[in-house]
Amino acid sequence: MIKVKKRKFLLLAGDGVGPEVVGEVKKIIKWLNTNRSLDFEIDEDLVGGASYDKYGTPITDEAYYKALESEVVILGAVGGPKWENLEFSKRPERALLRLRKELKLFANLRPAICFKQLVEASTLKPEIVSGLDIMIVRELTGGIYFGEPRGIKPIDNGERKGINTHTYTTSEIERVARVAFDLARKRKNKVTSCEKSNVMEAGQLWKEEVQALHERDYKDVELSHMLADNCSMQLLRNPKQFDVIVTDNLFGDMLSDQASMLTGSLGLLPSASLGAKNKDGEMRAMYEPIHGSAPDIAGKGIANPIATILSFAMALRYSLDLDKEADALEKAVQNVLDDGLRTKDIMSKGTKEVSTSQMGEAIIAYLQK
Ligand code: IPM
Ligand code: MG
Repeated sequence: MIKVKKRKFLLLAGDGVGPEVVGEVKKIIKWLNTNRSLDFEIDEDLVGGASYDKYGTPITDEAYYKALESEVVILGAVGGPKWENLEFSKRPERALLRLRKELKLFANLRPAICFKQLVEASTLKPEIVSGLDIMIVRELTGGIYFGEPRGIKPIDNGERKGINTHTYTTSEIERVARVAFDLARKRKNKVTSCEKSNVMEAGQLWKEEVQALHERDYKDVELSHMLADNCSMQLLRNPKQFDVIVTDNLFGDMLSDQASMLTGSLGLLPSASLGAKNKDGEMRAMYEPIHGSAPDIAGKGIANPIATILSFAMALRYSLDLDKEADALEKAVQNVLDDGLRTKDIMSKGTKEVSTSQMGEAIIAYLQK
């Protein structure tokens, strides 16, 4: 069994804008090492299409083992048109799915926060989204993404059949629901659990197990159940009714994309994928921006590094218990936005365009103050 090495960071920059945005986090880690006497050890490796191009696989065993022994994995992004036609097992996305599954990162935290400086960037009316602060907790290692049987097979009539299986067990539901309830206690104390219990048995089980756990251990938290399609509608109608949403892998994939767009600023949203704590309190975790590899703007120095920097702030908070440093970093991001500095994706009238590295450096300058 490979042990987690304390304070070891693995940077998997990946494809597209990944290397540029992760590069800014690397600067911040180095700054913290020098100026806050933190002894973070940095390692790096290839993942996704970049790994495929060099090694013929989206993630090598060596990179995977490095991830296994790292306390924090920071992932940039994977994928791009160049690799779209590869067979399924070689696609860049498989690296991400392997890391999630094999590191057992079952709880995916995806905040959707509407930054006050960017209210106008949303496609929704300001009064609907201003002050928005939702946390989506997506189950990440189960459900239809991983269920067996799966595959494409020929059937008798000469047609083919595509098969995926949606399954959940009691413990898979309970452990992710616990994460949601615990988070809610530190926020507005409200959990909405989403499934399709009206159509799917796995959804019915989801609802029953969340309810039972609530009655057992979390009576102080306000819990409601909502059908996932209704949740998708409510997110547009009145998103501020939500605090924490907990849902399965597939619904979480969709609802988190939808929620992120309410904020109008995909380039600003971080995420954390967390495993269970062992008896020594150690936990595996991976942090990544929710925007993808954005191949159309890669290599131009214009990508927004803030989502990755805020993902790193989540790492400081959730993996390293460095809340003070996390607060300082989040504050620095607010400061540069207040100053009107913007990368191209979030430009508006009266603001000043900066490059990826200028944005990173401006954030570091505020840490320095
Ligand atoms: C996400 C992405 C991934 C997913 C893809 C890239 C495999 O959409 O992290 O939301 O479907 O989970
Ligand atoms: Mg997605």
